[in-house]
Amino acid sequence: MDKYNNSHQEAGNRPIGIFDSGIGGLTVVQQLMKLLPNESLVYFGDTARVPYGTKSDRAVKEFAWEDSLFLLGHGVKMIVVACNTASAVALDELSRYLKIPVLGVINPGAKAAVKVTKNGRIGVIGTQATVDSKAYESELSAIVPEMFVTATSCPLFVPLVEEGWLEGEIPEKVAINYLSPLLSNGIDTLILGCTHYPLMKPLLSKVLGGGITLVDSAAETARETVRLLDEMQIKSTGEKRANQFFVSDLPRRFESMGKRFLGEPIESIAIAEPWKSARPNQCVIKP
Ligand code: DGL
Repeated sequence: MDKYNNSHQEAGNRPIGIFDSGIGGLTVVQQLMKLLPNESLVYFGDTARVPYGTKSDRAVKEFAWEDSLFLLGHGVKMIVVACNTASAVALDELSRYLKIPVLGVINPGAKAAVKVTKNGRIGVIGTQATVDSKAYESELSAIVPEMFVTATSCPLFVPLVEEGWLEGEIPEKVAINYLSPLLSNGIDTLILGCTHYPLMKPLLSKVLGGGITLVDSAAETARETVRLLDEMQIKSTGEKRANQFFVSDLPRRFESMGKRFLGEPIESIAIAEPWKSARPNQCVIKP
């Protein structure tokens, strides 16, 4: 029996793997820690190659493969692609070829938005690559075909969040500039289609005014992870191991910024460079 075809219980006691282009995926980790306190987590943040949102599909796919294979090397039972850009561009390919379940952040966010919208007009904000991919439009129209969707990229939001500029005149002006066209389109729901954006919720709510529901894909993805683990009967029943955090560069910066994203200190962070690792055994890939 190969190592990815064991009993539910054995599979359940393996960790959940999560990756992001850098730090933003910690917003998903925070929600996973809340909803699944008994699960062990292995996180990889590709801080040497962030941002993914300004790169080509070809590059993002390559990075996503390397990140996933690194997590597989840690024996994970499922992978959460905690990055909107990687989910938009590489999720289909990863789920097609990997034997373990792979969950992205786009489908959970789209499902939640469809549930909360009253007027059927949904806005999406994300990186350039996510918006160009039209992944949210496809996902939303697959759920409810007659939905009106308007998407815009907000490239300055990621650096603002990383610098901790979450309020004040400058971030407010930037947000007004990006969000005004969405407001004129009469949206009643806004999907935060980037893992950095949940930290901007207070500012975005202020700029948007009342009456617009913000959909945080991090929280929705954690809920979907719980549902998937239940459905596959691979929830952990064993003792929780310490969560492991890996980054490809600048662990100190990740540690200090990480506190803001995670809401608590990160105990230990190791360096990993997946592009240098040997590929794991072919048995992890579907034929
Ligand atoms: N994590 C990315 C996302 O959710 C944002 C940062 C980047 O561009 O890499 O799309």
